[in-house]
Amino acid sequence: MKILFVGDVYGRTGREMIEGYLQKLKSKYQPTVTIVNAENAAHGKGLTKKIYRQLLEAGADMLTMGNHTWDNRELFEFIDDASQLVRPANFPEGTPGTGIRYITLPHNVQVAVINIQGRVFLPPLDDPFRIVKQLVDEARQRTSIIFVDVHAETTSEKLALGWYLDGSVSAVVGTHTHVQTADERILPQGTAYLTDVGMTGPYNGIIGVKRAAVTKRFLTSMPVRFESEEGPGQLGAVLIQIDDKTGKATKINRILINDDHMFFD
Ligand SMILES: [Fe+2]
Repeated sequence: MKILFVGDVYGRTGREMIEGYLQKLKSKYQPTVTIVNAENAAHGKGLTKKIYRQLLEAGADMLTMGNHTWDNRELFEFIDDASQLVRPANFPEGTPGTGIRYITLPHNVQVAVINIQGRVFLPPLDDPFRIVKQLVDEARQRTSIIFVDVHAETTSEKLALGWYLDGSVSAVVGTHTHVQTADERILPQGTAYLTDVGMTGPYNGIIGVKRAAVTKRFLTSMPVRFESEEGPGQLGAVLIQIDDKTGKATKINRILINDDHMFFD
């Protein structure tokens, strides 16, 4: 089976890239399951109910989140009904939503999707290592096909989680930093790993945000309003091939679409 995972959809431009390319990617690569990180989908901040539905209609089977999960208040109201969404599992106990969900495929094949958030240079949360280990142990009672979106700032924390989970999950893929890394590999025990899948949003922004605002903040330290940059979009994704029987990854390929990396269907 194959998992297509699309990185952080950022604002309108990101959503337009999903509308324009997700079906084409699915036709070309024939993924069994499509997962999309949606924590920046509503103007860079969180997710609305309308956008939740749009992303599913566009072809996502499951959405993952991150540190911007609660930036749009609407999610409070519908997260308990959002059966195709996971938020970081290491949010404090009692937080609405869940950090693990299962996708059921034909012949009762199950795919576990876990979302976890790093703690380095991000708000303090429960220990991602211990929480993810508990969830993986729980998931392995049901399936050996397990996908983990690690939403984190530092390469070291993501890589540490990748090695920590090697052999017990099918894939560990990073999100949040918005720039695709070129370190995709299959770790020795069969876990596919990529530090960051890259953003799906404005190609000419600074990680999606208007350049002028970000530059002004660096130059003056004054508070500025962060809005999406205009202009062309990009899409960052990864395709992972997994042996259904063992849950081990057999192949990992990065996908990047922008004005400098053309898409051929
Ligand atoms: Fe993030």
